[in-house]
Amino acid sequence: MDDNNKGIPSGIIALVTIIGSYVLMRFVAQPPLPSTLTNFFMMFILAGVVIYITLEDSRIEEFLDFISFRSKLPLVWDIFRKAIFAAIPFFVAYNVYSTEKITYSPPGELFQPHVTPPQWVVDYKVPEWAANPEKWEQRFIDQGKKIYEDNCLPCHGKDADGKGPAASSIRYPAAPTNFKEPGTIAQLPVSYVYWRVRDGGIFDKQFNSAMPGWGEELEEEEIWKVIMYTYHKAGVKPRTWE
Ligand code: HEC
Repeated sequence: MDDNNKGIPSGIIALVTIIGSYVLMRFVAQPPLPSTLTNFFMMFILAGVVIYITLEDSRIEEFLDFISFRSKLPLVWDIFRKAIFAAIPFFVAYNVYSTEKITYSPPGELFQPHVTPPQWVVDYKVPEWAANPEKWEQRFIDQGKKIYEDNCLPCHGKDADGKGPAASSIRYPAAPTNFKEPGTIAQLPVSYVYWRVRDGGIFDKQFNSAMPGWGEELEEEEIWKVIMYTYHKAGVKPRTWE
């Protein structure tokens, strides 16, 4: 027992190891570790500490003394020990607070609006009556208007500017597209747009956005008509594959 009291008490070593590694992982490590990983490592560290203490009978005794109310520890260590015990509730409280508090920071990943489409989209043969924007017939555009107003307007807006009545509640990972912006459909070939309207944003978790897929709801023909109307309303022209 005697030589145990000479060094740093094992209880202190245990607590400092546990709390120290937690603080290092949670607050010091850059970039911060995800909390699931921190918890995972903590399990190993806890196990290591338990093994360290239970390896020798004298350490077990010493540890039981350490956590007992009337510890026989030297005064300095006794104060240190009490300080740590007193701090634990604050530490736990802070952690509960920091995991429960609501943050408004946007998700880390940036939404990538345009990606390489599947091969079938590149190979896709656009129906002749829809292939050439110069020759889009007014009656198809008019038919597309109704389809647009029934299905797309709530999000993309009556002016195709992304300001539909439902748009303000959709922000992540991307807001409904403003088709008037040059970086959107004006930059895309019609077959790409066809793919996006048919399969939406849920497809393959590629976009994972709120954009619904319309392949079940609308006929291929209807999708082409709504695409024509969308370009018409936005006042832009599609691009051709080069
Ligand atoms: C529930 C809301 C919602 C509805 C309804 C909706 N969209 Fe979308 N749409 C989105 C969102 C959000 C995006 C942006 C994210 C993305 O590209 O997946 C988007 C993106 C798009 C894009 C891709 C634009 C680009 O630049 O890549 C096209 C094309 C499109 N929508 C067409 C339509 C058409 C046509 C309809 C109706 C048949 C429609 N959308 C209905 C929410 C909606």
